[in-house]
Amino acid sequence: MLTPTAIQQDGDRHPAGVARLSRRRLLWGAAGLVGASRALAEEALRHETAEDALGPFYPLSLPKDQDFDLSLVAGHKTRALGQLLYVSGRVVNPRGEPIANAVLEIWQANAAGRYMHPGDTGDAPLDPNFQGYARIRSGADGSYLIKTVQPGNYGPRTRHIHFDVRGKRSRLITQMYFEGEPRNEADPLLKMQGPEDRKTLISRPGTPTGKQERDAMAVSWDIVLAFG
Ligand SMILES: [Fe+2]
Repeated sequence: MLTPTAIQQDGDRHPAGVARLSRRRLLWGAAGLVGASRALAEEALRHETAEDALGPFYPLSLPKDQDFDLSLVAGHKTRALGQLLYVSGRVVNPRGEPIANAVLEIWQANAAGRYMHPGDTGDAPLDPNFQGYARIRSGADGSYLIKTVQPGNYGPRTRHIHFDVRGKRSRLITQMYFEGEPRNEADPLLKMQGPEDRKTLISRPGTPTGKQERDAMAVSWDIVLAFG
Protein backbone atom coordinates (compact mmCIF):
# COMPACT_ATOMS: atom_id res chain seq x y z
CA MET A 1 0.00 0.00 0.00
CA LEU A 2 1.06 3.59 -0.39
CA THR A 3 2.26 4.69 2.97
CA PRO A 4 1.74 8.22 4.33
CA THR A 5 5.53 8.58 4.16
CA ALA A 6 5.59 7.77 0.44
CA ILE A 7 2.83 10.27 -0.25
CA GLN A 8 4.55 12.88 1.89
CA GLN A 9 7.84 12.38 0.01
CA ASP A 10 6.05 12.73 -3.29
CA GLY A 11 4.38 15.88 -2.00
CA ASP A 12 7.78 17.21 -0.97
CA ARG A 13 9.08 16.92 -4.51
CA HIS A 14 5.91 18.33 -6.08
CA PRO A 15 4.16 21.20 -4.35
CA ALA A 16 0.83 19.98 -5.68
CA GLY A 17 1.45 16.66 -3.89
CA VAL A 18 -0.43 13.52 -4.92
CA ALA A 19 -2.74 15.57 -7.12
CA ARG A 20 0.06 15.49 -9.72
CA LEU A 21 -0.20 11.70 -10.02
CA SER A 22 -2.93 10.61 -12.34
CA ARG A 23 -5.83 9.19 -10.32
CA ARG A 24 -5.86 6.14 -12.60
CA ARG A 25 -2.16 5.38 -12.00
CA LEU A 26 -2.58 5.87 -8.27
CA LEU A 27 -5.52 3.44 -8.10
CA TRP A 28 -3.83 0.80 -10.23
CA GLY A 29 -0.61 1.10 -8.28
CA ALA A 30 -2.34 0.81 -4.92
CA ALA A 31 -4.49 -2.13 -6.04
CA GLY A 32 -1.43 -3.96 -7.37
CA LEU A 33 0.48 -3.49 -4.14
CA VAL A 34 -2.45 -4.55 -2.01
CA GLY A 35 -2.95 -7.65 -4.18
CA ALA A 36 0.74 -8.57 -4.02
CA SER A 37 0.99 -8.14 -0.26
CA ARG A 38 -2.20 -10.15 0.26
CA ALA A 39 -0.85 -12.97 -1.92
CA LEU A 40 2.41 -12.96 0.03
CA ALA A 41 0.56 -12.97 3.33
CA GLU A 42 -1.68 -15.84 2.26
CA GLU A 43 1.31 -17.82 1.04
CA ALA A 44 3.08 -17.33 4.35
CA LEU A 45 0.07 -18.26 6.49
CA ARG A 46 -0.09 -21.83 7.67
CA HIS A 47 -3.34 -23.74 7.38
CA GLU A 48 -4.76 -24.15 10.87
CA THR A 49 -4.88 -27.71 12.19
CA ALA A 50 -8.32 -29.20 11.62
CA GLU A 51 -10.66 -30.22 14.41
CA ASP A 52 -11.51 -33.87 14.91
CA ALA A 53 -13.91 -35.73 17.20
CA LEU A 54 -13.27 -35.85 20.95
CA GLY A 55 -14.22 -39.52 20.82
CA PRO A 56 -15.75 -41.58 23.64
CA PHE A 57 -12.55 -42.48 25.49
CA TYR A 58 -11.25 -39.29 27.14
CA PRO A 59 -10.23 -40.70 30.56
CA LEU A 60 -12.96 -40.63 33.21
CA SER A 61 -10.30 -40.55 35.90
CA LEU A 62 -6.89 -39.14 35.15
CA PRO A 63 -3.80 -41.15 36.11
CA LYS A 64 -1.50 -39.81 38.83
CA ASP A 65 1.46 -39.92 36.47
CA GLN A 66 0.77 -37.45 33.67
CA ASP A 67 4.29 -36.75 32.46
CA PHE A 68 5.54 -36.73 28.87
CA ASP A 69 6.49 -40.43 28.95
CA LEU A 70 3.32 -42.47 28.41
CA SER A 71 5.37 -45.61 27.91
CA LEU A 72 6.37 -45.79 31.57
CA VAL A 73 4.21 -45.46 34.67
CA ALA A 74 6.01 -43.86 37.64
CA GLY A 75 7.13 -46.56 40.07
CA HIS A 76 6.84 -49.40 37.52
CA LYS A 77 9.94 -51.25 36.39
CA THR A 78 8.52 -52.47 33.11
CA ARG A 79 7.78 -50.31 30.11
CA ALA A 80 4.51 -50.57 28.15
CA LEU A 81 4.30 -53.18 25.40
CA GLY A 82 4.61 -52.06 21.79
CA GLN A 83 6.67 -50.02 19.39
CA LEU A 84 8.32 -47.07 21.13
CA LEU A 85 7.32 -43.81 19.53
CA TYR A 86 8.41 -40.21 19.94
CA VAL A 87 5.98 -37.50 18.83
CA SER A 88 7.32 -33.97 18.64
CA GLY A 89 6.52 -30.69 17.00
CA ARG A 90 5.62 -27.09 17.66
CA VAL A 91 2.45 -25.31 18.66
CA VAL A 92 2.26 -22.19 16.50
CA ASN A 93 -0.20 -19.62 15.17
CA PRO A 94 -0.95 -19.34 11.42
CA ARG A 95 2.01 -16.96 11.01
CA GLY A 96 4.26 -19.70 12.40
CA GLU A 97 4.95 -17.83 15.62
CA PRO A 98 5.45 -20.10 18.65
CA ILE A 99 2.76 -20.48 21.27
CA ALA A 100 4.61 -20.90 24.54
CA ASN A 101 3.06 -22.61 27.53
CA ALA A 102 0.16 -24.14 25.60
CA VAL A 103 -1.45 -27.00 27.55
CA LEU A 104 -1.57 -30.28 25.67
CA GLU A 105 -3.69 -33.15 26.91
CA ILE A 106 -2.90 -36.34 25.04
CA TRP A 107 -4.60 -39.73 25.28
CA GLN A 108 -4.54 -42.88 23.18
CA ALA A 109 -5.18 -46.61 22.99
CA ASN A 110 -2.38 -48.97 24.03
CA ALA A 111 -0.40 -51.04 21.52
CA ALA A 112 -3.18 -53.64 21.42
CA GLY A 113 -5.83 -51.01 20.63
CA ARG A 114 -7.46 -50.76 24.07
CA TYR A 115 -8.22 -47.64 26.08
CA MET A 116 -8.01 -47.35 29.85
CA HIS A 117 -11.69 -46.47 29.94
CA PRO A 118 -14.69 -48.42 31.24
CA GLY A 119 -16.53 -47.61 28.03
CA ASP A 120 -13.99 -49.55 25.96
CA THR A 121 -15.40 -53.06 26.09
CA GLY A 122 -13.12 -54.42 23.37
CA ASP A 123 -11.41 -57.81 23.74
CA ALA A 124 -7.88 -56.42 23.45
CA PRO A 125 -5.90 -56.62 26.72
CA LEU A 126 -5.21 -53.67 29.00
CA ASP A 127 -1.55 -52.93 29.67
CA PRO A 128 -0.94 -52.01 33.33
CA ASN A 129 2.39 -50.42 32.33
CA PHE A 130 0.86 -47.98 29.87
CA GLN A 131 0.12 -44.49 31.17
CA GLY A 132 -2.33 -43.76 28.35
CA TYR A 133 -2.57 -40.03 29.08
CA ALA A 134 -0.27 -37.03 29.42
CA ARG A 135 -0.71 -33.40 30.31
CA ILE A 136 2.23 -31.29 29.23
CA ARG A 137 3.04 -27.71 28.21
CA SER A 138 4.80 -26.35 25.17
CA GLY A 139 8.18 -24.70 25.70
CA ALA A 140 9.16 -21.08 25.03
CA ASP A 141 9.68 -21.94 21.35
CA GLY A 142 6.28 -23.70 21.15
CA SER A 143 7.91 -27.14 21.09
CA TYR A 144 6.46 -30.25 22.69
CA LEU A 145 7.56 -33.87 22.96
CA ILE A 146 6.02 -37.11 24.14
CA LYS A 147 7.42 -40.60 24.39
CA THR A 148 4.84 -43.31 23.98
CA VAL A 149 4.06 -46.52 22.11
CA GLN A 150 2.42 -46.71 18.73
CA PRO A 151 -1.33 -47.01 19.33
CA GLY A 152 -3.03 -50.13 17.99
CA ASN A 153 -5.95 -50.15 15.59
CA TYR A 154 -9.39 -50.79 17.06
CA GLY A 155 -12.80 -51.27 15.48
CA PRO A 156 -12.93 -49.34 12.22
CA ARG A 157 -10.31 -46.82 13.37
CA THR A 158 -6.82 -46.43 11.98
CA ARG A 159 -3.96 -45.61 14.39
CA HIS A 160 -4.40 -42.17 15.97
CA ILE A 161 -3.57 -40.14 19.06
CA HIS A 162 -6.03 -37.70 20.65
CA PHE A 163 -5.01 -34.13 21.45
CA ASP A 164 -6.76 -31.31 23.32
CA VAL A 165 -4.61 -28.22 22.96
CA ARG A 166 -5.16 -24.91 24.74
CA GLY A 167 -3.25 -21.85 23.63
CA LYS A 168 -3.81 -18.28 24.79
CA ARG A 169 -6.95 -17.68 22.76
CA SER A 170 -7.66 -20.98 20.99
CA ARG A 171 -8.64 -24.47 22.03
CA LEU A 172 -8.35 -27.32 19.58
CA ILE A 173 -9.64 -30.85 20.05
CA THR A 174 -8.28 -33.12 17.37
CA GLN A 175 -6.50 -36.37 16.49
CA MET A 176 -3.08 -37.03 14.97
CA TYR A 177 -2.65 -39.74 12.33
CA PHE A 178 0.32 -41.54 10.77
CA GLU A 179 1.49 -41.24 7.18
CA GLY A 180 1.18 -44.34 5.02
CA GLU A 181 -1.06 -46.36 7.34
CA PRO A 182 -3.06 -48.86 5.26
CA ARG A 183 -6.25 -48.20 7.24
CA ASN A 184 -6.17 -44.40 6.81
CA GLU A 185 -8.26 -44.48 3.63
CA ALA A 186 -11.13 -46.35 5.28
CA ASP A 187 -11.07 -44.53 8.63
CA PRO A 188 -14.60 -43.14 9.23
CA LEU A 189 -13.35 -39.87 10.77
CA LEU A 190 -10.27 -39.20 8.64
CA LYS A 191 -12.19 -39.69 5.40
CA MET A 192 -14.67 -36.99 6.43
CA GLN A 193 -11.87 -34.39 6.34
CA GLY A 194 -11.35 -32.33 3.20
CA PRO A 195 -7.95 -32.71 1.47
CA GLU A 196 -6.39 -29.58 3.02
CA ASP A 197 -7.64 -30.37 6.53
CA ARG A 198 -6.54 -33.98 6.19
CA LYS A 199 -2.97 -32.86 5.47
CA THR A 200 -2.91 -30.95 8.77
CA LEU A 201 -3.75 -34.11 10.74
CA ILE A 202 -1.15 -36.52 9.37
CA SER A 203 2.25 -36.59 11.05
CA ARG A 204 5.46 -37.10 9.12
CA PRO A 205 8.32 -39.43 9.91
CA GLY A 206 10.64 -37.53 12.23
CA THR A 207 14.38 -37.37 12.36
CA PRO A 208 15.99 -39.50 15.07
CA THR A 209 17.84 -37.27 17.51
CA GLY A 210 20.46 -39.80 18.51
CA LYS A 211 19.24 -39.64 22.09
CA GLN A 212 16.38 -42.00 21.32
CA GLU A 213 16.46 -45.78 21.52
CA ARG A 214 17.71 -47.42 18.33
CA ASP A 215 14.45 -49.20 17.62
CA ALA A 216 12.22 -46.22 18.44
CA MET A 217 10.05 -44.55 15.80
CA ALA A 218 9.77 -40.79 15.63
CA VAL A 219 7.11 -38.62 14.03
CA SER A 220 6.82 -34.90 13.73
CA TRP A 221 3.55 -32.98 13.89
CA ASP A 222 3.04 -29.23 14.24
CA ILE A 223 -0.19 -27.88 15.68
CA VAL A 224 -1.42 -24.61 14.19
CA LEU A 225 -3.94 -22.80 16.42
CA ALA A 226 -6.20 -20.32 14.64
CA PHE A 227 -5.84 -17.45 17.12
CA GLY A 228 -2.69 -18.46 18.96
FE1 LIG B 1 -9.56 -42.93 19.64
